[in-house]
Amino acid sequence: MQNSSGNLQLLLAIESSCDETAAAVIDSNQSVLSNVVASQAELHERFGGVVPEIASRAHVRRILPTIDEALRQADVKLDDLSAIAVANHPGLVGSLLVGLTAAKTLAMVLDLPLVTVNHIEGHLYACQMAAGRPVFPAIGLVVSGGHTNLYDCHDSASFELIGSTIDDAAGEAFDKVACLLELGYPGGPVIEQVARSGNSEAYNFPRAFQYDNRLDFSFSGLKTAVRYQVYGTPGGVSREKKAVEEDRPLELSDRERADVAASFQAAVVEILVYKAKQALRQRNRHALCIGGGVAANSLLRERLQEMCEMQGVELHLAPRELCTDNAAMAAIAWEHLAAGKVASLEVDVTPGLVRFSRN
Ligand code: KG4
Ligand code: ZN
Repeated sequence: MQNSSGNLQLLLAIESSCDETAAAVIDSNQSVLSNVVASQAELHERFGGVVPEIASRAHVRRILPTIDEALRQADVKLDDLSAIAVANHPGLVGSLLVGLTAAKTLAMVLDLPLVTVNHIEGHLYACQMAAGRPVFPAIGLVVSGGHTNLYDCHDSASFELIGSTIDDAAGEAFDKVACLLELGYPGGPVIEQVARSGNSEAYNFPRAFQYDNRLDFSFSGLKTAVRYQVYGTPGGVSREKKAVEEDRPLELSDRERADVAASFQAAVVEILVYKAKQALRQRNRHALCIGGGVAANSLLRERLQEMCEMQGVELHLAPRELCTDNAAMAAIAWEHLAAGKVASLEVDVTPGLVRFSRN
């Protein structure tokens, strides 16, 4: 897409669905000119997870400086822009509203088209951005702090939800287990690091729905199993009984902590890979796209690679910098614009998941 003078057009994309305030400038060739992410991790660390009210307030403070920085790094002025894109679903309602309000204001003041994008579809679109060519049809697996979803991606504009978690998301399980092990927040990167020196077979943690054809996930039982390991069980050995009575964690050695982290990570990875393989078979697809924060996990990337090689499936992993939340993945807005899908200034946020999004 080019403007009347033959230059590439420029899109400002805004993302605020959870706890990252992000803005990016992407040209109509889908080159990312800037990709600025202001993480709020330090604000949520002591709670072991994202506190929605704190997240919304932090977005309000950070959204304008983040947009300014994205424009500055891209060396672009507001007047150079051709469209404004924003993720308006799914996510935390207060967080989404901050990004949407900023995007609507800019679209109105600059008289530019407003394009809304699905944050989850953006996570998968990151695979296509990295490949630089069409990667759909494919099975899409999005594993993040808020979602663990499988999609049958018919093309870049129609992602059919075919499975999801019935309770916690995989990333949330990483965060809660890191909290149990007193390793800090966000849990994924630190569990991955600690697990390196652990034995992944030390504990046999549950893999939900492993022997089931359904394409759903469940991580709450796994989380509880880890909690029993860390806090002990009432009928356990004496050191466990004492910890249970005092409702405090057992004094785990570094070795035990690493073994719990490695065994937990192995259980999550195994079930994710297994369900992705089932989805590929059930839908007769030959390509797999994976995105979302947990997709940055090295063990998951390795195991997916092995599975895809054995199955003769083409694997598209989102690059690590586009796995965790960012605004560059809203480049999918260029596809919506090309299809004439422009949002009205009346558009609202939709916090929940839409089961089938054939736009
Ligand atoms: O996609 P994302 O940035 O935000 C949401 O949309 O939720 O994902 C954040 C999640 C967190 O739960 C974090 O612990 C997890 O991704 N994560 C990881 C890794 N890096 C981030 N999980 C496992 N291994 C990692 N290396
Ligand atoms: Zn996300």
